[in-house]
Amino acid sequence: MSESPVKPAATVPPPHMQRLDELNQKALLGGGESRIKKQHEAGKLTARERIDLLLDPGSFVEMDRFVTHRCTEFGMQEQKVLGDGVVTGYGLVDGRKTFVFAQDFTVFGGSLSGAYAQKICKVMDLAMKVGAPVIGLNDSGGARIQEGVESLAGYADIFLRNTLASGVVPQISAIMGPCAGGAVYSPAITDFILMVENTSYMFITGPEVIKAVTHEEVTKEDLGGAHSHASKSGVCHFTSADDRACIAQVRELLSFLPSNNQEDPPFRPTQDPPLRDVPELDTMIPVESNKPYDVKDVIRAVVDDAHLFEVAEAYASNIVVGFARIGGRAVGVVANQPAVLAGVLDIDASMKAARFVRFCDCFNIPLVTFVDVPGFLPGTDQEYGGIIKHGAKLLFAFAEATVPKVTVILRKAYGGAYDVMASKHIRADVNLAFPTAEIAVMGPDGAVNIVYRHEIAKADDPAKARAAFIADYKEKFANPYKAAELGFVDEVIYPRTLRQRLHRSLELLKDKRDSNPPKKHTNIPL
Ligand code: HXC
Repeated sequence: MSESPVKPAATVPPPHMQRLDELNQKALLGGGESRIKKQHEAGKLTARERIDLLLDPGSFVEMDRFVTHRCTEFGMQEQKVLGDGVVTGYGLVDGRKTFVFAQDFTVFGGSLSGAYAQKICKVMDLAMKVGAPVIGLNDSGGARIQEGVESLAGYADIFLRNTLASGVVPQISAIMGPCAGGAVYSPAITDFILMVENTSYMFITGPEVIKAVTHEEVTKEDLGGAHSHASKSGVCHFTSADDRACIAQVRELLSFLPSNNQEDPPFRPTQDPPLRDVPELDTMIPVESNKPYDVKDVIRAVVDDAHLFEVAEAYASNIVVGFARIGGRAVGVVANQPAVLAGVLDIDASMKAARFVRFCDCFNIPLVTFVDVPGFLPGTDQEYGGIIKHGAKLLFAFAEATVPKVTVILRKAYGGAYDVMASKHIRADVNLAFPTAEIAVMGPDGAVNIVYRHEIAKADDPAKARAAFIADYKEKFANPYKAAELGFVDEVIYPRTLRQRLHRSLELLKDKRDSNPPKKHTNIPL
């Protein structure tokens, strides 16, 4: 049961406290023993057990424990449960203030009433005033059917607050049971969504409605389970095997984030020497520009304790995004992944990375970008799907970001993708390149086919002529030195020095101040 500080007295309480004791006991039971048992049998923890795991021991302060609904339809006046199906309040995570609401499935299936929504709004309003994150633990049958429009209004009140809080305090949604219909839009507006495998699902319309409307047959799990949203829709950023693992992920995620947009992320001292050389980097990047390698090996080689907390790992894995620390400082990492689709930028990768970049910029988290990109993915699927507007999202996100931006070109940086991937031209502060970098409009094969088409056709030995042109092109363009000559790359570095160069750059930039022209808000291509 809950470790709430409000505990009944051990001895017989004075009469004026008996009522309080009784009410507290009743409230702690939520929907009652049998429903708690059912919740456990379904492999789920209760709302209070989840809060106890999320917050530092003994730190939870509950609010509105005695709130009940106001509905008088369908005999609801006879069915009141203290707290009304959501446990709300605040406490500490690693000693830092954090607000929480946990939907209690044991009470009316966790469904949302007007009073319940007001409880959530109250903690959100307070979180905004004091500048602390809001964590929502979702497990609900959606709008409380008996309350009709009052419930819909309650959702809208929450949506509005989610929107106003966006970019002010971090908002994290853990989906630990059902989350369906319009109810999905609160998590969708928040910064990160975590889902528990097999016990959680999210969808706008369930399998039955889909069958009736489109005749498609799909299971709840395939439609809206953790796996589907982590790998197919990209709605979910983290999945876990059970409630405990999910809450551990929330705590870890918070460890990288500041409490609000006025603060810097927490510093975590490290035993990993920030200036250490990384000799293996000298040979980690294959010189052959089409040979794959895992960019996560490069990232892990340079960040503290080789720890990368990857975001949306299973979605658009041709780009890697996540949090790490360098010299104790939290950074947001964005990296093309040559091991998947050669690290090409497509619609999904652009959207995934753009949202991450914007999150980091909102919350003062410096961006470290690793570039090895052959360009944008060609094809009608991509063009009809709007790669123009979606690719523009990433360009826009990097360009508008005013946090410290450090970029390292590992190998390929071709075409528009060179500009997009936090190039000097869109306000990156420090741009480094490995000697293996190739910065050009396109790869040697494509370039030679266009520029020397006639010469190759006329040559006695076209294959030999083509090979010679390619060698010449590589010599002239497929290297970092032209960019370095023009100052577009600040330094071509020995790969083994990358960790210290990153650390020194972040030190240099730690008090960076930059801003965008005054405006109501930007108009990012959506
Ligand atoms: C009132 C609800 C409820 C709801 C569940 N319950 N959903 N009560 N309003 N929306 C109650 C059930 O009556 C039941 O009460 C208890 O919660 C547990 O539900 P079960 O059905 O026994 O649990 P389970 O078998 O696990 O199924 C869970 C479920 C199912 C899949 C969520 O309950 C369900 O389909 N509920 C309706 C979902 C729904 O259509 N919601 C509206 C979506 S539209 P007893 O007393 O029997 O234990 C929406 C719009 C939001 O939410 C719009 C925002 C803009």
